Amino acid sequence: MRIVLLGAPGSGKGTQAQRLIERFGLPQISTGDLLRAAVARGTGYGLQAKAAMDAGQLVSDEVVLGIIRDRLAEPDTVRGYVLDGFPRNLVQARALAAMLKQIGKPLDAVVLIEVPYNVIVKRIAGRRSCPQCGAVYNVHDFAPGETPRCRNGADHPPLVQRPDDNEATVGKRLEVYEKSTRPLVEHYAAQGLLRRIDGDAPTETVTQRLVGALLQAPPAAMVKAKAKPKTKTKTKPRTKPRTKPRKAAGSKVRSRTKVKAKGSAKTKAKARVKAKARVKVKAKARAGKRKPARSRRRRSR
Ligand code: AP5
Ligand code: MG
Repeated sequence: MRIVLLGAPGSGKGTQAQRLIERFGLPQISTGDLLRAAVARGTGYGLQAKAAMDAGQLVSDEVVLGIIRDRLAEPDTVRGYVLDGFPRNLVQARALAAMLKQIGKPLDAVVLIEVPYNVIVKRIAGRRSCPQCGAVYNVHDFAPGETPRCRNGADHPPLVQRPDDNEATVGKRLEVYEKSTRPLVEHYAAQGLLRRIDGDAPTETVTQRLVGALLQAPPAAMVKAKAKPKTKTKTKPRTKPRTKPRKAAGSKVRSRTKVKAKGSAKTKAKARVKAKARVKVKAKARAGKRKPARSRRRRSR
C-alpha cells in the first residue's frame, strides 16, 4: 500500500504514520525526519536545508526530491510505505507521480487529517520527542507533576523540543501550508485518491478513522474511472469467408421476403390473365362461334 498523509503542521501525520507502521508493517517516510537527520549529520543536503527549516519555509524541491528518490530506492519500500510530509506542493506531487509511473506503482490513497488551527498550535507547543529513537510525545499527555520521558527505554535521554516548534515559526509554517500544500487537496481529489478524516479526537480514535478510510472502497470517481467499458457480447469468429460480398452502402438491397412476395405476385397475375382468357374462350364456344379446344380435341379422337 502506497499512502500519503496530508495535513497541516501538528495535525498528527507523524503520530499516525507510526501507528500504521505497527498495523501494516509499512515504513514511514517523513521528509521532515530525513531532513533533520541530514542537518544533524551535517551532510550537503542538511546544510542546504537548515536555514529554510529554521525559518519555517519549505526546503528547495531539488533537495527534497533528491532525498525522496534515494529513500524510495531502498528495498524496504517494495511492499509500500507511508509518506509523511511529502509531497508539500504541486511540483513535488507531479515529480512523485512521474517517479512512481516509471516503476508502475502509483499511489493507492491520500488521507487528509483535518484539525482546527487553535488545536494545532496547542499541540505543537506541547510536542517533545526522543533524540534517540524519535518517538513523539506531548507534555499534555503526561500526568500533572510527571516528568515527560521516553517510554521506549529507561536509558533514553530526556525529551527535547524541535527548534522549529516556536510560536513565530509555527505561524510561518501554517502560512506556507495554506499557500503551497493546501492546493494538493484539490489535486488529489480530482484524481479520486483523496480521503478526509477528522483528526480532532483522541489519538486512537483518529487511528481507527484512518484505517477505516484506507480500507474503505475507493471513492465513486475512482470506481467510475476504473470501470471497464461495456463490451459487446462475443460472437463466434467466422471460420468460412462470406460467400456473397456485402452490398456497398447506399445500394438498393431487396430483402429475400420482398423478392419472394414480388415473384409470387407476378405468377398470380399471369394465372389471372390465363384464367380470364379461358373464361373468354369458353364463353365464345357456348355462343356457338367456336368450340373449346379440349372438346374439339376429344371429338377428333
Ligand atoms: P515536518 O517535520 O514534516 O513538520 P510539519 O509538516 O510541520 O508537521 P509536524 O511534524 O510538525 O506535525 P505532524 O503532523 O507530524 O504532527 P505530530 O504527529 O508530530 O517538517 C519540518 C520542516 O522540514 C518544514 O517546515 C520544512 O522546512 C521541511 N520540510 C519537510 N518536508 C518538506 C518537503 N516535502 N518539502 C519542503 N520542505 C520540507 O503531532 C504533533 C503533536 O501533537 C505531538 O506532540 C503529538 O503527540 C500530538 N498529537 C498528535 N495527534 C494527537 C491527537 N489525536 N490528540 C492529541 N495530541 C495529538
Ligand atoms: Mg511530523
